[in-house]
Amino acid sequence: MTGTTAVRAAVNPAPAPAGTALRDARWSDVEALAALEGDLFPDDAWSAASWWAELAGRPRRDYVVLTDGRGIAGYAGLDHGGEVSDVMTVAVAPRCRGGGLGRLLLGELERRACGRGAAHLMLEVRADNEAALALYRRSGFVELARRRGYYRPGPVDALVLRKTLSTNGVGDG
Ligand SMILES: CC(C)(COP(=O)(O)OP(=O)(O)OC[C@H]1O[C@@H](n2cnc3c(N)ncnc32)[C@H](O)[C@@H]1OP(=O)(O)O)[C@@H](O)C(=O)NCCC(=O)NCCS
Repeated sequence: MTGTTAVRAAVNPAPAPAGTALRDARWSDVEALAALEGDLFPDDAWSAASWWAELAGRPRRDYVVLTDGRGIAGYAGLDHGGEVSDVMTVAVAPRCRGGGLGRLLLGELERRACGRGAAHLMLEVRADNEAALALYRRSGFVELARRRGYYRPGPVDALVLRKTLSTNGVGDG
């Protein structure tokens, strides 16, 4: 007998801290997201037009926003491509860093990817982005490949990381 069993990884992201809330991104967030991008990614920030296009790409694209009493504290997003979901972005406002919100957002992406049936979560990150690399590695991502000189200015290498969300046990034929 031949059988394939998919065992879903346990994905239970920590609850959002008191005073914060996780929700789907809305059209009304676009201006605030574009403003935050300009601060966080000065070399390749997504403009308001880029955000409109990203949100128009739903449901394949999937963006989540974390708010606190002062507005958007962080955001993250996915592209659901079937077996693989790609992390499009993860970002936390500078005023909110170091408090576990990046880990929370990544956990939410993982939960959403599992919910769409993905077996793997993949992403690309600048090789010199120590904070992001530490976050991803602590969350179980492993390095798959290196794209030399991918990011400009620099050039800076891109690391391609992957996290497996499920394990497949294939029975004997
Ligand atoms: C990367 C980023 C999302 C992390 O957000 P954060 O809320 O500060 O991260 P957390 O508090 O959840 O930290 C989770 C883990 O990440 C690592 N980490 C976070 N910031 C770090 C830093 N400055 N230096 C080293 N490790 C860091 C730690 O391992 C930490 O785990 P620990 O607390 O158990 O040690 C945030 O720094 C950010 O928005 N950076 C700019 C945008 C960006 O580069 N995004 C990634 C694009 S690929």
